[in-house]
Amino acid sequence: VRKSSIYLPDQLKGALAELAERSGRSEADLIRSAIERLVAIPADAAGPAVAEPAHPRPAVVGVGMGPGDPALVTDLARRTVAAADRVLVITTDVHSVGRSEMVVRAVAPAAKVQRVPYAIGADDAGRQASLAAVVTGALAGADAGELVAVAVLGDPSQWTIFPDLAAALRSARPGLLVEGVPGVTAYQALAARVATALGASGTALAVVDHLEDLDRRLAEPDACVVVYKASTDAEAVRAVADRHRRRGAIVGELTGLPGQRQVPLDDLADGPISYLSTVVFPATAPAPAAR
Ligand SMILES: C[S@@+](CC[C@H](N)C(=O)[O-])C[C@H]1O[C@@H](n2cnc3c(N)ncnc32)[C@H](O)[C@@H]1O
Repeated sequence: VRKSSIYLPDQLKGALAELAERSGRSEADLIRSAIERLVAIPADAAGPAVAEPAHPRPAVVGVGMGPGDPALVTDLARRTVAAADRVLVITTDVHSVGRSEMVVRAVAPAAKVQRVPYAIGADDAGRQASLAAVVTGALAGADAGELVAVAVLGDPSQWTIFPDLAAALRSARPGLLVEGVPGVTAYQALAARVATALGASGTALAVVDHLEDLDRRLAEPDACVVVYKASTDAEAVRAVADRHRRRGAIVGELTGLPGQRQVPLDDLADGPISYLSTVVFPATAPAPAAR
């Protein structure tokens, strides 16, 4: 390492100090990454052999980490979290390692994880305040020229805060690259495991998270219906299924995680279905091609 001195105008010095404060990085670190970018040191010469993902810096990338099994993380997702300057994980408790962080650590042990608190059960104002905190965390990195990964379970475009985060970031920094890396969803993993169709010619796929929506969707026999957040009683889901004479639903608990099981809805004991469960109702009408 060679030492050198540089003289910065006061205004630049002030801006650098403010960026260091917001990003949590040292001024020296920020100066080094600015120079590295200027002279474009190839990634393999600058550090460990991590194949760079196709994301320039700065960028904020929502990365889908799959339902929990590290084997279901795509290569692009793994490379993105490994190469990111910071990996934000949304958590309800900053003192605990959550599930998305566990998956990140399993596939990229050296990833620079930063937990960001999020009040999932809060009212609209509380959720907006939580979102604003995530925006601040992402911008702190992006403004420092970083590749910021936001690691989420499943897929970033489905049932996550990432679409709202992307909209807020685009409005705050119109030129900033914001995009997602897709991930395997729990319902895809479950359907694959029990070899059932989620989609086919002439059928629709609906994902719902309320019994009322389930009732409405099951009325369409040519729709495959997935229930997320099925934190209700098994008998309540069965009653809706019986009303529409829908048979063959499968409940997947802890899909891709230790203790996982797949049980026909008809065989599930009465009582609460756990939060980490997904129910898949296959479409019942034959698809046109099969008629
Ligand atoms: C916030 S949503 C998940 C969104 C995620 N972005 C996705 O694409 O799957 C949470 C719900 O996903 C389902 N889920 C997530 N992980 C699961 C797993 N490992 N096994 C079964 N269901 C799971 C459950 O229904 C849970 O209530």
